[in-house]
Amino acid sequence: MDKSVLVRVPASTANLGPGFDCLGVALNLYNDIYMELKGSRLVIDVEGEGILNIDRDEKNLIYKAAKKVFDKLNITVSGLYIKTTNNIPTGSGLGSSASAIIGGLVAANVICGNSLSHDDILDIASSMEGHADNVAPALNGGFNAATFDGKRTYYIKKELDDNLRFLAFYPERELLTSKARGVLPSMIEFRNGVFNVGRASLLTASIFSGRYDLLKVASQDMLHQVYRKEFIPEMYYVIEKALDNGAYASFLSGAGPTMMVFTDASIADKVKESVKKVYEERNIKCRIYELKCDNTGAKIL
Ligand code: HSE
Repeated sequence: MDKSVLVRVPASTANLGPGFDCLGVALNLYNDIYMELKGSRLVIDVEGEGILNIDRDEKNLIYKAAKKVFDKLNITVSGLYIKTTNNIPTGSGLGSSASAIIGGLVAANVICGNSLSHDDILDIASSMEGHADNVAPALNGGFNAATFDGKRTYYIKKELDDNLRFLAFYPERELLTSKARGVLPSMIEFRNGVFNVGRASLLTASIFSGRYDLLKVASQDMLHQVYRKEFIPEMYYVIEKALDNGAYASFLSGAGPTMMVFTDASIADKVKESVKKVYEERNIKCRIYELKCDNTGAKIL
């Protein structure tokens, strides 16, 4: 058993338009989670993003995830020190909760002698989130098609090329996933289900075969984005501007409010400048991250 461990976990973008709760990509923006068996109580330090709003007690998501591992392995921990150094903005749609969950699970598993398998960890993570579209890429890296059946997570990963860019436009307003899920209907029209099945299938096949030219259609969605527009009024202007300027795809990142633009690196600057204007014209303050796919996933440093 190691007494201490440092884990680096990537951000992630989920849904990719039509793949609600099942498609996601890991991104090269990271949270570092340090965990140590120490003292006789729980002590949590937070640096960087979320410094004002992340819980420092038993409600902390990293701790809750770690406790799942300790409980599953019947290990009693008297004192625990956690320090999280965050680059992923919280409540942004960039997978900060998934990174906390994966970080807590992976770190606690190392401390407990690596008794749990990779897939055990993913199953616990999916059960904590309720879906696998952020936690699977956060753990595995790459593009992930992933389904959680309530017990196990079934997934396939595909590494993405270095010449692809994910431009994340984060309008610096926090949107809780629970709030963004709260506006979704309990029933959908059959034709909208058919619409999304077609797009999500085409999107997955396009990613696996490198046919990015098909993503303009394959990234369309009728299941969640339209309902979430009330929180992200700039959504369809961003999508239109990005596609008009040659981006492969644009969609709401997870539950938002970040908008994601997927583009070839060769035109990333042009696409970025044009989409930036959509925010400027509406006086929306916005941070822009120019990211790549992280093909490694959670890593013990
Ligand atoms: N698929 C999830 C959603 C991602 O859109 O609500 C955020 O957890």
